[in-house]
Amino acid sequence: MADAAVEFLLGNLKQLLVYNAHLISSVKDQVDSLCNDLRLLAAFVKDTTESRSKHAVVKELVRRIRIEVYKAEDIVDMYVVHASVQKSRTSLEKAFHITDYPLKLRTVGKEIHDIRRRVKEIYDNKMFGYEALGRRESVTRSPPAVEEDNVVGFDKEAEKMVGWLKAEMEELDVISVVGMGGLGKTTLVKKVYNDPSIQYEFFIRSWVYVSQVYSRREVFLKILHDVTRENKDTSEWSVNTIADELRIKLQDGRYLIVLDDVWTKQAWDDLKMVFPNTKNGSRILLTSRNKHVALHANTNRPPYQLRFLTPDESWELLGKKVFPRGSHRPKELEDLGKQIARKCYGLPLALVVIAGILRKKDKTRSWWEKVEEKVNTYVAMEPEQCMDVLALSYNHLPYDLKACFLYFGVFPEDFEIPVRKLIHIWVAEGFIQRIGDASAEEMAEENLQDLVDRNLVLVEKRRANGGIKTCRIHDMLHDLCVKQAEEEDFFKEIKGLEPSSYIKSVSPTVFRRLCVHTRVSDYVSSKPDSPHVRSFLCYAKEETVLAPDLITYFPGSFRLLRVLDVRPISFPRFPSIQLVHLRYIALLGTFKVLPAAISNLWNLQTLIVETTFRNIEVQADLWKLLQLRHVYTSAASDLPTPSSKSRKGVKDPLVNENLRTMSKVSPNTCTDVIFARTPNLQKLGVRGNLMSLMEEKKGSCKFDNIAKLTHLETLKLLNDTYPISPLDGKLHGLPGWYKFPPKLKKLTLSDTMLNWEHMSVLGKLPSLEVLKLGDNAFVGECWETPDGSFVRLRVLEIGKTDLAIWKAADDQFPQLQRLSLKHCEQLVEVPWGLGGITTLEVVELSWTSHSAVASAHRIQKNFKLVIFPPDQETQT
Ligand SMILES: Nc1ncnc2c1ncn2[C@@H]1O[C@H](COP(=O)(O)OP(=O)(O)OP(=O)(O)O)[C@@H](O)[C@H]1O
Ligand SMILES: [Mg+2]
Repeated sequence: MADAAVEFLLGNLKQLLVYNAHLISSVKDQVDSLCNDLRLLAAFVKDTTESRSKHAVVKELVRRIRIEVYKAEDIVDMYVVHASVQKSRTSLEKAFHITDYPLKLRTVGKEIHDIRRRVKEIYDNKMFGYEALGRRESVTRSPPAVEEDNVVGFDKEAEKMVGWLKAEMEELDVISVVGMGGLGKTTLVKKVYNDPSIQYEFFIRSWVYVSQVYSRREVFLKILHDVTRENKDTSEWSVNTIADELRIKLQDGRYLIVLDDVWTKQAWDDLKMVFPNTKNGSRILLTSRNKHVALHANTNRPPYQLRFLTPDESWELLGKKVFPRGSHRPKELEDLGKQIARKCYGLPLALVVIAGILRKKDKTRSWWEKVEEKVNTYVAMEPEQCMDVLALSYNHLPYDLKACFLYFGVFPEDFEIPVRKLIHIWVAEGFIQRIGDASAEEMAEENLQDLVDRNLVLVEKRRANGGIKTCRIHDMLHDLCVKQAEEEDFFKEIKGLEPSSYIKSVSPTVFRRLCVHTRVSDYVSSKPDSPHVRSFLCYAKEETVLAPDLITYFPGSFRLLRVLDVRPISFPRFPSIQLVHLRYIALLGTFKVLPAAISNLWNLQTLIVETTFRNIEVQADLWKLLQLRHVYTSAASDLPTPSSKSRKGVKDPLVNENLRTMSKVSPNTCTDVIFARTPNLQKLGVRGNLMSLMEEKKGSCKFDNIAKLTHLETLKLLNDTYPISPLDGKLHGLPGWYKFPPKLKKLTLSDTMLNWEHMSVLGKLPSLEVLKLGDNAFVGECWETPDGSFVRLRVLEIGKTDLAIWKAADDQFPQLQRLSLKHCEQLVEVPWGLGGITTLEVVELSWTSHSAVASAHRIQKNFKLVIFPPDQETQT
């Protein structure tokens, strides 16, 4: 397979050159020529490996090339570190280092020269006997063997499909089934194809297995043969003659053609010409892993997304395979069997493979226990049956998506991945290629959607605007990522190792990324020194407090780090680190201060800081960090107001056009001088005594500055009045609706203790789609929602409040989709009028009164009602 790493490194080297042009100028020519050489190699790798991934010679070749590319990247990155250190030195220090710096420069020059020579050797000599490999071998795959008799579940699915096939519509219809590899698409379609009523309805039928590599000629001949049932000598016929003949034959009657396993839009375009629209109810059934391919074949009908098997169905399938009909089923194996089935997460292919493994030995508890412990490992032992089948999807990805997909392996198994985090990290890693005006984040979202459409990633939760909030991947695909990533030196998982083996297992390798899932403190205390590592990620469950002597040593020893995501490690203070390549940092600790040293992280894009304090003093000059895109702090960060250096008519040099997120800042930070530097801010969170935000002085208040943020879409206002009591800090009103940012879509308020009458202001916000009222955002017994308000609101969440009587009608929330009430314990009833909202999809009631639950049942029409805790339901 084409190596994702090689392509990416080239991209990164190119970026390095652009960003660091000023630092790198003395060796720029050498790096440029190196890049050219590498580009040739990358093209060579791509061309060579796509069709010969399994060939040992090719694997070795790719490995050698990757090593050279990695070395090149190390040298350039290291050089940038030295150059920036030199640049930040005072004249005296520079003079002191006068000899070592040019020496370093010369070494870099020499090393680059050596690499160029080796790259040239590889390319010129094709030294691995690549030439001898001969013509491309094709990746043909024989048609899958699917069971037709023992199909588990799928009855409803088959019934639905039979219905579509027999529907009265006369026009030719293409019906597609999509889903991840091994989900049972072929099995389901076969069940339908063999249904007696379908055989009766469609006299002309044919089944072709298209696959990744197909020949039009063979596909057409197979259909022609099925349709005519003749064995004509067609060896002299051209493809066009066969296609013409086939089209004519299909004109004659009502036909059903199955195109199984279609991979590309091109395949459909190649084949569609032989299927005439005979207007007699002919049908095409198509299976694909890719939703886009299915949509391309028929834009009018959404593809049918096949589901995973339920745990009961999984056990039924496993049971049927392990114990052939009539054989004895020992009762004592049932619990283990169910566990094993569950660990296949509803994927029939995995169940079939594991059943085969269980069948290999006697059915004893000890054997089943062994398998249960490591279901994935056992499945991976039969690569041709499962992993290779799944890997087809990976191999088919374009190279930028390959890297994005492999990244799913860095998270622990079965982990619900927050999309926002994933996207920030993808961007920091340099995986996202920007096209046109779209921001890196938008492009990253598209990449994610692409992986979802290819059925490689599962959507877990959606946002109000339909975007993906959290996602996950199937455990078998997770395994595929880890295996593939280790093969490509893309990342290494450090898991369950003894401390003594850390160094041995990690240091000598060229792994670019490390993810530690267990024994974090052991790992960190082993004082790892991994100069190659670009990303250090840690997702262990247990929290570890870092020993004071390691605070700076630990991240500092990864000198070329780009991503540092170590949420389970708690830092007693913010480390003073000089990591010039760092782009993403997420830290937890007892921080009071963001130190000045952060100002030197001049590639930083995302800064996430979680601290136990309410406020955090920012000593760093964040305005120096022009790549900075997102700043998240749990505490209110107090940004000092910079003295404005802008002169009339001259743009302030410290405006950060990239900054999208600042959450949370103190009310003091909301000054016009600061916001003038963040013209593209989309998300703002303010925490502190909000009264100071609303206080009018000379006819204006700080809140007016927020309104000037014309791109702001998300605003969080958290009223933290400490040390004043919440009651004394309650807000007495809100600014007029016209004083809110014009594009505001999502607003969160908490502890503001406003009276309900002030909701009328929010009701008038013209673009508001999501309103989240945290605890005590509004207080008072009664709320009468005024007419004509919340015209675009889709999500309304109300947290703890003493609201008892809520009067509202359906025309007050004409677009509402989701209503969530939490701890509204006094609420007597959910307003009757809400039942009439046609767009309403879900109503969630958590810890509300029994009478409110009962009222929700009374008004329930088309929406789903979710009650928590569930037992509240039974008491109504
Ligand atoms: N509902 C089911 N009951 C019993 N066995 C099933 C079921 N679904 C799938 N299988 C078995 O699981 C394996 C994979 O199924 P199938 O080949 O239909 O998947 P697919 O979705 O078509 O995969 P691909 O994307 O690779 O074409 C086959 O061995 C099949 O017999
Ligand atoms: Mg199939």
